[in-house]
Amino acid sequence: MTVTPTLTAPGIVLRPLIPTDAAALFIALSDPDVQLYRRAPAHTALFETQAYIADTLAKSRAAWAITIEGSEALGRLALRVPQPDTGEFGIVIRAAAQGRGLGLKAIQLAEDFAFGDVGVRVLRANIDIENAASRGLFARAGFQIAAHLTADRTTDLGVRDSVLMEKLR
Ligand SMILES: CC(C)(COP(=O)(O)OP(=O)(O)OC[C@H]1O[C@@H](n2cnc3c(N)ncnc32)[C@H](O)[C@@H]1OP(=O)(O)O)[C@@H](O)C(=O)NCCC(=O)NCCS
Repeated sequence: MTVTPTLTAPGIVLRPLIPTDAAALFIALSDPDVQLYRRAPAHTALFETQAYIADTLAKSRAAWAITIEGSEALGRLALRVPQPDTGEFGIVIRAAAQGRGLGLKAIQLAEDFAFGDVGVRVLRANIDIENAASRGLFARAGFQIAAHLTADRTTDLGVRDSVLMEKLR
């Protein structure tokens, strides 16, 4: 079960992701540029975003809507815990809200929760090797490259290499 706390810092509220965030999240997930390096293609219908939220809630230890003041979901941040000592982040933000520091604040808030309340020893992000924005975000948050993974994923772009970025508690 997902038990997600609301986390706040100046200029950001991470609140629990809910099914009715689908319409707002569709703005990000239906954008081919936003989805370019992600595993799934851009959504073409709202039901895909509804299913995506249901899947996120089912598989995550915590799943947040990324908001400014607690209302509209400008993006979503998920924390999976595949092993008791390991957390994995997945993040997406709509194009109009990118480049304003929201991603960094979101990762910093969720990192404190993951290392503290959840008690993981290591946090990871698996990132397409050419995803400069995501690599830059996690580097800025203090993550380091732990591995280059060859032919790690298949997306609309073909067979892709990834970098695994890690941060230790
Ligand atoms: C990756 C993503 C979440 C970053 O969120 P954001 O809110 O735009 O990032 P921020 O504004 O907080 O930027 C934080 C740092 O990331 C880096 N960064 C952000 N955008 C960047 C870009 N386009 N190129 C290179 N570095 C970038 C910078 O170091 C920045 O710090 P700085 O502004 O002090 O230089 C966002 O670009 C996104 O949603 N991309 C599409 C989905 C995606 O690829 N998700 C990740 C899958 S692993």
